[in-house]
Amino acid sequence: MASNEFNVTIDEFDRASICIIDDNKINLDIIRAILSADKAYIIDCFLDPIEALNACKETQYDIIIVDYQMPKMTGIDFIEDIKVYESYKLVPKIMVTADKERNVRISAIQAGATEFLNKPIDPIEIQIRIKNLLELREAQLKLSKRAVFLSKQVDDANRRLLAAQEEMIFRLANAIEMRDNDTGEHIARVASISRFIAEGLNLSEQVCQIIQIAAPIHDMGKIGIPDAILKKPSSLTKDEWSVMKEHTRIGGRLLSHGDSDLLKVARDIAMYHHEKWDGNGYNLGLAGEEIPLSARIVAIADVFDALCSQRPYKKAWPLNKAYSEIEKQSGIHFDPKCVEAFKKSWDRIVKIY
Ligand code: C2E
Ligand code: SIN
Ligand code: SIN
Ligand code: FE
Repeated sequence: MASNEFNVTIDEFDRASICIIDDNKINLDIIRAILSADKAYIIDCFLDPIEALNACKETQYDIIIVDYQMPKMTGIDFIEDIKVYESYKLVPKIMVTADKERNVRISAIQAGATEFLNKPIDPIEIQIRIKNLLELREAQLKLSKRAVFLSKQVDDANRRLLAAQEEMIFRLANAIEMRDNDTGEHIARVASISRFIAEGLNLSEQVCQIIQIAAPIHDMGKIGIPDAILKKPSSLTKDEWSVMKEHTRIGGRLLSHGDSDLLKVARDIAMYHHEKWDGNGYNLGLAGEEIPLSARIVAIADVFDALCSQRPYKKAWPLNKAYSEIEKQSGIHFDPKCVEAFKKSWDRIVKIY
């Protein structure tokens, strides 16, 4: 056992290591001799408790045996000091006391001593106590290894679940997008740009992830828009435009009453991604921070990518012209803070086109 990592050392437990501290060389030799009868132990002895404290930093011992009466520091002081090392919290600490020192036992227990041994040492007693405490230690190590293993399994399961959700949404978004847009690249780019903006705003990783996953279904409501309007190769009439604008409300309705954060964010994005910062958007005419942040973020990503893409009704714009348009609309169509975050990510955005 020569490491501070519990999970690395457990398999080697058949060679448990013992640290003995006593300023009296004869006592030290006696304890070592008794315990050496059992070949399974690695035994390190220290006359100087300070030296022992330093050694404990390098080596993970499985049990500590410390004398109470020492000139430099008492056994209680030693136990107080070793407790500070995280990896020694659960290591059994045995204190050796003379019979007349019975009164120190209470303070030793308060300090964190696990067991006591009386001087003179009884060979059978110390062997049995050490064996029992090491069994306890081994059980604790197995338990903590098991806990690490289980929490890793939960993490893996959560990751797989999230990936499955993302994939499902992505495919759904693709199916919706196929009607007015030949490739699924638009939604992938909108997802990436939305994440870049969210990151630029220093939102938490969890929120960035949710926005990225939800962004692709911002136009889910287009499912309710007739082909004749959606695929029209020219400008829309006033009536057609009124129908078209309903796609946000339809999307909001389709995604409403969800329990998960993901669905709530997806609903906000679908519902409000055509609101404008100055209040001149649709369908509610919300302004500024009345518009959910997720929708303010996706609005930029959506328009930027729509400008750079060909549509049945329009040609693709060059990247730089689209960039200038976003810049120009800061404070009008878009939240200025989100535009700043968009501009900060420009190098990464260019790479995905
Ligand atoms: P979309 O094609 O995905 O466009 C999303 C948004 O990008 C548009 O939201 C608009 O803000 C911006 N955008 C796209 N192309 C241009 C452009 O050439 N110039 C400018 N200034 N902005 C542009 P909007 O306007 O609310 O439109 C929502 C959706 O309505 C569009 O989604 C599209 O599916 C449809 N649409 C809009 N105008 C027309 C049109 O003239 N003809 C047809 N057939 N559909 C249209
Ligand atoms: C808009 O500029 O809001 C409409 C997009 C277009 O049809 O060019
Ligand atoms: C809502 O649907 O979330 C309320 C609409 C609003 O924000 O005014
Ligand atoms: Fe839209």
